[in-house]
Amino acid sequence: MSHLEFPLTETTRSQSAEDRATVLAKPGFGEHFTDFMTHARWTAEDGWTGGEVVPFGPLTLSPAAAVFHYAQEIFEGLKAFRHADGSVWTFRPEKNAERMQRSARRLALPELPTEDFLASLTAQVAADEPWVPAAGGEDSLYIRPFMFASESFLGVRAAQQVDYYVITSPAGAYFPRGVQPLVVWVSDTYARAGAGGTGDAKCGGNYASSLLGKKEAAEHGADEVLFLDSETHTTIDELSGMNVMAITNDGRILTPELTGSILEGVTRDSILQLARDRGLEPGEQKMSMDWVTDRIAGGEIVEMFACGTAAVINPIGEFRSPKGSWTVGDGGSGEITLSLREELTGIQTGTVEDRHGWLHRL
Ligand code: COI
Repeated sequence: MSHLEFPLTETTRSQSAEDRATVLAKPGFGEHFTDFMTHARWTAEDGWTGGEVVPFGPLTLSPAAAVFHYAQEIFEGLKAFRHADGSVWTFRPEKNAERMQRSARRLALPELPTEDFLASLTAQVAADEPWVPAAGGEDSLYIRPFMFASESFLGVRAAQQVDYYVITSPAGAYFPRGVQPLVVWVSDTYARAGAGGTGDAKCGGNYASSLLGKKEAAEHGADEVLFLDSETHTTIDELSGMNVMAITNDGRILTPELTGSILEGVTRDSILQLARDRGLEPGEQKMSMDWVTDRIAGGEIVEMFACGTAAVINPIGEFRSPKGSWTVGDGGSGEITLSLREELTGIQTGTVEDRHGWLHRL
């Protein structure tokens, strides 16, 4: 068990208060980065050492660092929210710590103990506290912890040196059009992950394998791509970086079961709980795309949405595939979708009671 501390090594900010205010007025998603980053190193010999908060800036790595060649890398995504009293909170970070440990095991990377993960978030957000958007809206400070094989070695084996960083980025809506119904392309060409692969690990490779599908989606005028299972190309897995859910006219909320090729989303889990709380019956099940489109056409599936930390909850208005197109409900933003979204963001921003104890003060 390591107990890393993350002291701030340098207090000078690289960006002015004016530049920061300009960014915070319109943060976008993932475009702007804060003044600091948090770092620790692991070696097979010494374990985790050297926690520190340093100025945000380029990394110096050997071109032979294993991550460049064999993609031994994992990451996480969380958000920090400012509440009305000025305090700063994040949401269920222990779940991200545990998922990062599971991802690390799958990618043969070292596990970062939960307390060190939490300490790294606290140190990073404390250093960059002025970058946490003001209370009263949904903007947040997106937190991106990541870990990669930095050992300079071209043999194929688990690296003996690994670096862990946390960077932060002020965030507004994930999709460029804001919270508007998405057009989703169903890829029958590409799969995101296969049985026994890394689909349930949050590793860069899964996202790399989604990119061509996302490009194909854009060529069909769609905002997102939905991947089907790699074996039969029939059952729904997930979108390029989000889980997917459907609401039926008889009060059920359905989402693909966790098969090992789907990411176990923290937002996914939270929505299932909130849905249960309000009397919707959650169903985690195999969902074939034909079954879904039949029920959309028959009016039994009335709403669908994408969900994830970055995307929060975003309605899906239409599916397109080589077989045809289907409008979900009236193609707009579903009532239950928007009300779940309001409840979730309300808990996160401190305006709705946190009855499950999900908030963690940073
Ligand atoms: C997140 O939702 O935090 C992710 O890591 C997914 C990515 C699409 C930004």
